[in-house]
Amino acid sequence: LNYCVPRTRKEIFETLVKGLQRLEYRGYDSAGIAVDGDKNTTTDGINKNNIVLIKKNGKVKALDEELYKKDCMDLEVELDTHFGMAHTRWATHGEPSALNSHPLRSDKNNEFVVIHNGIITNYKELKKYLNSKGYEFESETDTEVIPKLIKYVYDNREREDLSFSTLVERVIQQLVRSPLLIGVRSKYELSAEHIPIQYNTGELCSPLSDIITLQSMFKEGVQEKNSHNRPDIANAVNSAEDGKAVEYYFASDASAIIEHTNKVIYLEDDDIAAVVGGKLSLHRLNRLAGEVPVRAIQTLQMELQEIMKGNFEAFMQKEIFEQPESVFNTMRGRICFDTNKVILGGLKDHLKEIKRCRRLIMIGCGTSFHAAVATRQALEELTELPVMVELASDFLDRNTPVFRDDVCFYISQSGETADTLMALRYCKDRGALTVGVTNTVGSSISRDTDCGVHINAGPEIGVASTKAYTSQFVALIMFGLMMSEDRISLQTRRLEIINGLRILPELIKKVLTLDKNIKSIADELYEQRSLLVMGRGFNYATCLEGALKIKEIPYMHSEGILAGELKHGPLALIDKHMPVIMIIMRDACYTKCQNALQQVTARSGRPIILCCQDDPEVSKNAYKTIELPQTVDCLQGILSVIPLQLLSFHLAVLRGYDVDCPRNLAKSVTVE
Ligand code: G6P
Repeated sequence: LNYCVPRTRKEIFETLVKGLQRLEYRGYDSAGIAVDGDKNTTTDGINKNNIVLIKKNGKVKALDEELYKKDCMDLEVELDTHFGMAHTRWATHGEPSALNSHPLRSDKNNEFVVIHNGIITNYKELKKYLNSKGYEFESETDTEVIPKLIKYVYDNREREDLSFSTLVERVIQQLVRSPLLIGVRSKYELSAEHIPIQYNTGELCSPLSDIITLQSMFKEGVQEKNSHNRPDIANAVNSAEDGKAVEYYFASDASAIIEHTNKVIYLEDDDIAAVVGGKLSLHRLNRLAGEVPVRAIQTLQMELQEIMKGNFEAFMQKEIFEQPESVFNTMRGRICFDTNKVILGGLKDHLKEIKRCRRLIMIGCGTSFHAAVATRQALEELTELPVMVELASDFLDRNTPVFRDDVCFYISQSGETADTLMALRYCKDRGALTVGVTNTVGSSISRDTDCGVHINAGPEIGVASTKAYTSQFVALIMFGLMMSEDRISLQTRRLEIINGLRILPELIKKVLTLDKNIKSIADELYEQRSLLVMGRGFNYATCLEGALKIKEIPYMHSEGILAGELKHGPLALIDKHMPVIMIIMRDACYTKCQNALQQVTARSGRPIILCCQDDPEVSKNAYKTIELPQTVDCLQGILSVIPLQLLSFHLAVLRGYDVDCPRNLAKSVTVE
């Protein structure tokens, strides 16, 4: 949102599209933008903004191409003050189509347009009501009730001087919603609470928000003054004097705006931000309670380079190859290899309380859940506490009993996954201590938990999680090491694990050199329909995670099988045609895994085996082997998952799929 910084329409399009491309990991089935059209002068001499909507089914690229086809829009025209809004969708209500994509509008004149993340639970009732009042809907989305309801309230305002904020607030109060993030743009120059209208009016609100990153860029030195001397945003942004050029960017993730600035304000649940006449104001949804929000301007550490693909074919590939550095960054400054001390700053003040707890509950979804499965045994051993691992959705479905003396961990790369966030709120209400393990500083989970660990893996863009998994793994192991520091009986084991962590980045580098070998295995497998992954003990999580990768990216049926369960069903699938990967490492389960191997080969199975280097006993029964360096048993899963990450990448490329944008999925699922 721009005030007195002249931009051509072309520049506005480029900024919006670039931002959307950076957010595409959140959903990419359709996309749309709203921009200023030409101003109309009405009979009473008032300038009115025309809002133009351009929407397209498919990826952001398709929208980008569409923008330049609009010959009705003059691309070179310079707009002094302007507004642009853009959205990329992950369909919940209504199929992916241009009509269902956002922004959605109040009426054919585009009087109010809205973008929205989340679900409106009572949309059917609202739609019925609005239909009965003569409002016609054009999409199948739940979102469309928002602009229609805004127009309804606006049309029925009678003589009341309804400010834009009040209008939007009244509508939000009618919505029964899951966490919600909306942006509203009005064609009308509605009054503002305390700031006179001069040009455009735009508003973004985040009641029960998803993360909002809000960026304001002050030109002509105002930035200096504000960011250093007056970190109180309410004062800082309002001090931008009339006539000073100001640009504001609002986004659901910092990656969309990092090119423009690294100064951001994170909005909190129930915050409403409005920009009117070039000034930003912030207030709470229930303003009458008299609360005045004070939000600091924060400096992002993210570098643009971190969210660029570089020479890699895909972000997923780049992120797989980054793992020597990303796991190192997870450990950086936290492990002292001289004294064998592990300090996680975000947990140290709560350590006593954690040690006194009844049990640890690890909650997550998808890959993050697998990180909990992967470290459960080590955590049980190092903390000497019972450890439950829970899928967030199932945990909530079961109304799982949670007590004040439970410690609940929320593992989430994005820190925004709705199911995990709901589980967090559920446990908070029951008085448990809550601990976040996220990769996103400032995310909802990192803000809403009592304490936590940032895994510091750097931005992960590929939808299939790779480096976040290995960093979550390392972070959880470090937590176990921190908990066991004063346990004499565990010192030898601690030392072994700490030494293992020390050389982990080097070992990961060695595993990555197997890429060619893995590609040749992919060449053999890519036309198959199914692929089983089997293992047990410390490597069971690798089977689950490997199978998930193989489903997510190459769209092959895949199952992670606990080798102990082989004889209880999955063995029926084995014959010479069924591709099967077995993980057999030299650990306490080695002999049992050998038994499983015998059972597979006795049924003419032709297993590809992930094993330790120089293991002739296993190799002689393998159809193919992938030999990995051996490490401490509880860290071996970090090494064994990498070949499966690489395999899924190569399979997807060979099958001709878009690695970073798998169909039907989104990186961050902010709906339940
Ligand atoms: C989505 C992604 C998965 C991810 C899961 C949990 O389903 O597609 O790759 O593992 O969400 O995400 P989180 O950000 O909470 O780790």
